[in-house]
This record gives sequence, structure tokens and C-alpha cells, in this order.
Amino acid sequence: MDFLGRDVISIKELSKDEITSILSFAKKMVPYAKGEQQTTILQDKVLSVLFFEPSTRTRLSFESAMNRLGGRVIGFADPSGTSQKKGESLADTIRMADSYSDAIVLRHPQEGAARLSAEFATHPVINAGDGAGQHPTQTLLDLFTIKTEKKKIEGQNVVLLGDLKYGRTAHSLAYALAFFGANLTFVSPESLRMPKEVVSECKEFGVEPVNTSHLDKAIKEADVLYVTRIQKERFPDPEEYNKVMGSYRVTCELLKNGKEDLIVMHPLPRVTEIDPEVDATPHALYFKQAFNGVPVRMALLALIFGRKTL
Ligand code: NCD
Repeated sequence: MDFLGRDVISIKELSKDEITSILSFAKKMVPYAKGEQQTTILQDKVLSVLFFEPSTRTRLSFESAMNRLGGRVIGFADPSGTSQKKGESLADTIRMADSYSDAIVLRHPQEGAARLSAEFATHPVINAGDGAGQHPTQTLLDLFTIKTEKKKIEGQNVVLLGDLKYGRTAHSLAYALAFFGANLTFVSPESLRMPKEVVSECKEFGVEPVNTSHLDKAIKEADVLYVTRIQKERFPDPEEYNKVMGSYRVTCELLKNGKEDLIVMHPLPRVTEIDPEVDATPHALYFKQAFNGVPVRMALLALIFGRKTL
């Protein structure tokens, strides 16, 4: 298994063994991610972090991960301060970052942007979200969270709730959960159903996802409830957004119908879809999940730079 120099564009490019080894390396990273132990294994490396779309967790956790490993970070959180403003192409921006650093983390509003960038870069490109496409490192931290909390992924009843049409986290995660043999239920407004391609990929792994609009029923058997935000910025027509806005909300009342050990996850940011009163319940895993982004991204960065031990 060799990660050295690999691009990470889609979760589909990683085998089960590869995902499992990233997750077990991530476990070892936890005390380093918390600052309880120190390492400088990436002190000779510079990472470019290029964000063409807003981000809090993905960008900061990549930066934290690189810093915790003793590496350094360059980049931008907003392309408006770069030569993109003067009309520079994505390809040229990537060529520059490629010559100034040893790997590139890219978030971009266009699906396929990360794959295209990997063609222009000689160093590894990590997709930190490409439009409504994929978000592989979010999926790795989601799998890490489920595995840590539930011990295994296979056989878990996972409900994916929300904007399954435009949500890239849901697309990557549905594939990975089916790959690992979880049972899937998709709950969404009618107009925001999971894309057919993702459903058929799940079926290829022998998983038959249940599609429903009834959250109260779906929640009864769930081990994991994965909530997502309606991706307002991806709607071509604001009227369509207005029709589904606020159409679901996870509350303590609703969670009473679920199992005692049900965990509620969310890639965040949340807007209105989880009542803040849920935060204080033992079901709420989303903040811990967001922290897990640091050890998981540390593991991935270390591996693509060829460091397999701490
Ligand atoms: C998600 C994203 O950007 O796709 N956020 C994240 O990376 N944690 C989810 C979202 O924006 O709704």
C-alpha cells in the first residue's frame, strides 16, 4: 500500500485496506492533534491550501493538521485577493502553487475542478470539495467518527437526511458506507433526492437504500443520523430553495423516537436543521466529528508525504 505522491480526488479511488489504514493511523494521531504530544515529521514540507469557496472546518483543520506535523502552510481563503481577480485561469494558479509547495489542498465551486487541477500539478492534489461533486476527506473523518463510536461500520443503520441532491458530503459518504456494508436510508424533500448514479453505486455493493420523506419513522431503527444543510448556494433558482427551506429539523422531541445510543452527525455548518437544544444531549456527535478532521487529515498528509510512522 503506497500513498506516497497520490492525489485524493474521490473516495472511490481508495481501497478498503487503504481507508482502514488511514483510519488506524488517524487514531495514533489523536494525542498529537490535541497538542498532548509533539512531532515534526513534516518539517521539510510546505502545503498549499487554496479555497475558492467558504470554509471553516475543512480549511482550518487542514492547516492545523499540517502545523501539528511540523509542516508549513501557504494559501488563501478567498480568491478575490489573488490574480484570479485579474482573470488568471485555475490551471495557472495551480501551476504556481505547485511550484511553491509540496502538495495542494483545493476547494472549488465547480465539479471536476480538483481532477482537472491534478493534471496541471506535479505534486499531490487533495480535493477539499468540488461543487456538488465529492468531499473525500470529509468522508474519511465521518467514517473515523462512526468507527470510533460504533466500533464497526458494517451493519450499522445509517440515515442520511437533508439535501442529498447537492450535498457532496452525502454523495461521498453514501458510496463509502455502502462499500463498507452499512444499511442506508435516504430522507430528503422530494426535490432533493440522492442522485441516481449514487444510488446505483450503492446497489453495486449489494446495498438497497430506502428512500423516504418520513424522518420520524426512519429514525426508529437508526444507529447514526447524518444531517446535512440545504445547499442554498447550489440552487439555480432561488424559488426552488424557498420551497424546501426549513422543511426538516432535528429536535430533542424527535430524538425520543430513536435508539438510546443513536448518534447525530453533521458535517457542519448547520443553519436551522438541528435545534441547538440537541447539543447538550449524548446524541450530539457533530463537534467531536469536526475535531476528528484534524487527526484524519494529519494521517492523510503524513501518508501522501511517505511518512508511515510518527
Ligand atoms: C460541507 C461542505 O463544504 O461540503 N462542510 C464541510 O466541509 N464540513 C457541508 C456544507 O457546506 O453544508
